[in-house]
Amino acid sequence: SASKDMAGQRVLITAGGTREAIDPVRYITNRSSGKMGYALAQEALRRGAQVTLVTTPTGLDLPAGVEAVMVESAEEMRQAVLERFERVDVVVKAAAVADYRPLMQQEQKLKKKTDHLLLELVKNPDILAELGQKKNRQVLVGFAAETNDLETYALDKLRRKNLDLMVANDVTQPGAGFGKDTNIVTIFNRQGEKEQLDLMSKAELARRIFDKVIEILSARV
Ligand code: PMT
Repeated sequence: SASKDMAGQRVLITAGGTREAIDPVRYITNRSSGKMGYALAQEALRRGAQVTLVTTPTGLDLPAGVEAVMVESAEEMRQAVLERFERVDVVVKAAAVADYRPLMQQEQKLKKKTDHLLLELVKNPDILAELGQKKNRQVLVGFAAETNDLETYALDKLRRKNLDLMVANDVTQPGAGFGKDTNIVTIFNRQGEKEQLDLMSKAELARRIFDKVIEILSARV
């Protein structure tokens, strides 16, 4: 649609893979490039929304007109998102948040003194689950990156995190998921309906996702 059908809507999008520090020069991360989140931000802007993009460093150009908030770790992303949650209408969590972080962040660079090094990890907070508990009017959209049992895991996350939409990508399929310009997803809603989409660009997928968000928002008034 060429219309500004999201004018007046405040949208928060997360993008990229979080970086969990080991020491001042090293971190753990994942293969998220940020492309999905940036495509979503671009599309929401095109439709007239006011867009905040909470992003890890990706090397991608920020879409013109976006309010960007740069973060690294899951904890920083959590703070940035929670601070703004009350003021937004829609949240789309395309970021790949690390499930674990190193228990200890060394203040000095680790030295190679031993042949073996054990890194102890602790669980990160689940940002989306926290939003699901806090939400009042916000439309919450989650992503799920799965390698097996896509539907079971996606529906479980949708219910557990109290989401309105879950976009599930089977990241084992060529053309889907991390790093690519395209994606292959199934979108689930709260009613248990699902729509299986063919391979398409992340830009086109962003359009499909916001079409569904608009449907949810307009069914409410
Ligand atoms: O960035 P690209 O290279 O374009 O790749 C896109 C993508 C594959 C990263 C994206 O499409 C995607 O699937 N993002 C979510 C990946 C993911 O972390 O899925 P998950 O199943 O671990 O998490 C489920 C949801 O909970 C996600 O919306 C995630 O942002 C959120 N989450 C997860 C863990 C956590 N501690 N806090 C969270 O908020």
